[in-house]
Amino acid sequence: MVTLQINGEKYTIDVAPDMPLLWAIRDVIGLTGTKYGCGKGLCGSCKVLLDNSPVQSCVIPVSAAVGKNILTIEGTSKNLQLLQESWVELNVPQCGFCQPGQLIAATALLDKNKNPTDTDIEDAMIGNICRCGTYQRIKKAIHKTVELKNQHS
Ligand code: FES
Ligand code: FES
Repeated sequence: MVTLQINGEKYTIDVAPDMPLLWAIRDVIGLTGTKYGCGKGLCGSCKVLLDNSPVQSCVIPVSAAVGKNILTIEGTSKNLQLLQESWVELNVPQCGFCQPGQLIAATALLDKNKNPTDTDIEDAMIGNICRCGTYQRIKKAIHKTVELKNQHS
C-alpha cells in the first residue's frame, strides 16, 4: 500500500511503487483533470506540483511522490485559482487538453516570481506544448493574474 497526499487529502492505494504517478492520480484515484499526452515527459500536459515543483507525472514513479504534497489542477492554491479566473476572462483554451498542465506550470512560476517578465514566462512554460497554439493568450493571462493579485493586495 502507498499513501499519497493530493490537494490536502490523503489517499491510500494498492499499486506498485514503480507505477507512473499519472496512472495513480487518474486511473486509481480518479482525479482526471491531469491529462495524458505523450507519456514520455515531452509535452507537459500531465504536470503536477510535487512540493511546489512542477514534474511530469507520466515519468515520475509513485514512490517518488510518497511523503510529498501533490497539487493537481483540482487543487485550491491561491495562485492556481487566480490563474483560472484570468484563463476564463481571456478565454485562453481552445481544445483545452493541454491547459491543466499549462495552469500548473504557471502556478509554479507565480509561486516563486511575483512579477514575471515575458522572458520569465517563456522560460517557465517552455516544457508545455499546445497543439492549438494558445501561447500568446497564456502569456496575457499570466500577466492579468499578476494585475489581479496586485488589486487584491
Ligand atoms: S504526458 Fe507527461 S509529459 Fe506528456
Ligand atoms: S488548447 Fe488545445 S492543445 Fe492546447
